[in-house]
Amino acid sequence: MIPSVLPTYSRAPLHFVKGEGTWLVEEDGRRFLDLGSGIAVNALGHAHPALVAALTAQAQNLWHVSNLYEIPQQQALADKLVAASFADTVFFTNSGTESCELAVKMARKYWYDKGQPEKTDIIAFAGSFHGRSSAGIAAAGSEKMTKGFGPLLPGFKHLPWGDHEALDAAIDDNTAAILIEPVQGEGGIRPLPDQCLQGLRKLCDEKGVLLVLDEVQCGIGRTGRLFAHEWAGIAPDIMMVAKGIGGGFPLGAVLATEEAASGMTAGTHGSTYGGNPLGCA
Ligand SMILES: Cc1ncc(COP(=O)(O)O)c(C=O)c1O
Repeated sequence: MIPSVLPTYSRAPLHFVKGEGTWLVEEDGRRFLDLGSGIAVNALGHAHPALVAALTAQAQNLWHVSNLYEIPQQQALADKLVAASFADTVFFTNSGTESCELAVKMARKYWYDKGQPEKTDIIAFAGSFHGRSSAGIAAAGSEKMTKGFGPLLPGFKHLPWGDHEALDAAIDDNTAAILIEPVQGEGGIRPLPDQCLQGLRKLCDEKGVLLVLDEVQCGIGRTGRLFAHEWAGIAPDIMMVAKGIGGGFPLGAVLATEEAASGMTAGTHGSTYGGNPLGCA
């Protein structure tokens, strides 16, 4: 009989009942050092007092209003991210997968608005992981993730990791963006050398292609800088973030330059139904 929780994960037979900083406590009292951190999610560890206090205060005050209203806390976080990064603007999501969806849409819309609607292809790399949505699995492209789930979202090309010549040859008039993790996470913690990231930036500039970085797993301080690409001294056009940004609360973001985000106006990835939808005085 199928379990009531869809069995898409093979779970370890452990039942944690408490988390304290870097430690997890199993039902039977055993303590485990949590090196997994919820797959790179719990950036502040378990039950960090500041996070608990912020979430408790917010939950007791106001739960959810939607993006139809101004949200000062959202604004404050966007301002912080803009001040601390290459980005001019931020869109908040609930997951890395959703960040992938927007990054792909934003890259395509950018070229569409520039009068080059043929530029829709995204070049991605073997061993990558970009999430489990239709765009996410099409972007990563591995058989393990895509088999049986077709037809896949078209417009993705997959290249071997680290093959500069293949990359150079693959870029053509239809290429919208290169999508890459500066450190592949699911692919086995494979860092892209700084000079490769610098080369990628140069190639994108020369060929008129957007550089989209997936920092869902390697971003938010995990490499010792706020974002992994900072080590190479380059900046992307669009960047996907999630996991550590929420410290366990489901939160993601897409950071972008003003130029790259220029096509994402009201109604393109949200509702035009703004202003005062409830008609409040
Ligand atoms: C590099 C990368 N991108 C995207 C995702 C998808 O993020 P989420 O699980 O928050 O949807 C992950 C998740 O492991 C990831 O490691």
